[in-house]
Amino acid sequence: MFEIYEKLIEARLNEILSNKECEYSHLIEAMAYSAEAGGKRIRPKLLMEFMRVAGGQPENALNFACALEMIHTYSLIHDDLPCMDDDDMRRGRPSCHIKFGEATALLAGDALLTDAFKIALSTENVPFERVCKAAKVLSECAGSDGMIGGQIIDLKYEEQKAPLTVVLDLYRLKTGALLKAAATIGCILAGANDEIINASCVFAEKIGLAFQIRDDILDIISTAEELGKPIGSDAESEKSTYVSLVGLDKAQEDVVSFTNEAINALEAFSADTTELKAFALKLIERRN
Ligand code: IPE
Ligand code: IPE
Ligand code: MG
Ligand code: MG
Ligand code: MG
Repeated sequence: MFEIYEKLIEARLNEILSNKECEYSHLIEAMAYSAEAGGKRIRPKLLMEFMRVAGGQPENALNFACALEMIHTYSLIHDDLPCMDDDDMRRGRPSCHIKFGEATALLAGDALLTDAFKIALSTENVPFERVCKAAKVLSECAGSDGMIGGQIIDLKYEEQKAPLTVVLDLYRLKTGALLKAAATIGCILAGANDEIINASCVFAEKIGLAFQIRDDILDIISTAEELGKPIGSDAESEKSTYVSLVGLDKAQEDVVSFTNEAINALEAFSADTTELKAFALKLIERRN
């Protein structure tokens, strides 16, 4: 299923970000440049698969899936800016601000975020109440109580050592929140009950921790070529990461245990979750 989702996601993103002759075509170009192939599309694929395992039609979640990827892409554009992580490379190419300048990159991020809600709210063939509920979750997960909250805590602790509890909390937000959006929005659009939605939240939270810890590990053990973004970025900014606090070996062990906890949460689903489990397990050893 994941390969089918990938094709649908790429095609729809191309459609959404196709350029037109206008005074602001360089804005659309910058948005498309950052959203183009190179990302793993983890969040939109998860969203569509959760729609399926919760009993819905994955194609009907495509607009929400693309909206989530647009929000994720905007978060990366802003994350790379000189006032944030100051990284020059993303998804294997120069970061948006390197290619288009800071002002255009800032606005491309703003536009991706704003347009994401237009796309999500263009969803058809799903009851309106579910679309509204899902849009609210998308906003909560992306906003101050979600991903942005995590990003600001991340910056706050650049100049002081963060305790492990704070690091875990900020990972739950900066990375976990958009994964939670993926899992729960899929279930909400499918009309799942609270028990299923809660199980999907547990899956997302644990996968979020595993995913961000692996990201920290890759920042140390990978290469820029393999990763498509600079390595050593965290160490350079003396950031307290899970790895800097517990060491590489323990961190990788915990990636495995958080992933197993995520997989256990899938017991609540009666549909076949084999592909979801395989997807989660692949993230443990991911190289990019
Ligand atoms: C990068 O996310 C930012 C983190 C939350 C670690 P991804 O590793 O999913 O980035 P892309 O979308 O594949 O480029
Ligand atoms: C980013 O965390 C999380 C976001 C919300 C963008 P990082 O700053 O570690 O992500 P990378 O390593 O730049 O992709
Ligand atoms: Mg960052
Ligand atoms: Mg960064
Ligand atoms: Mg990182």
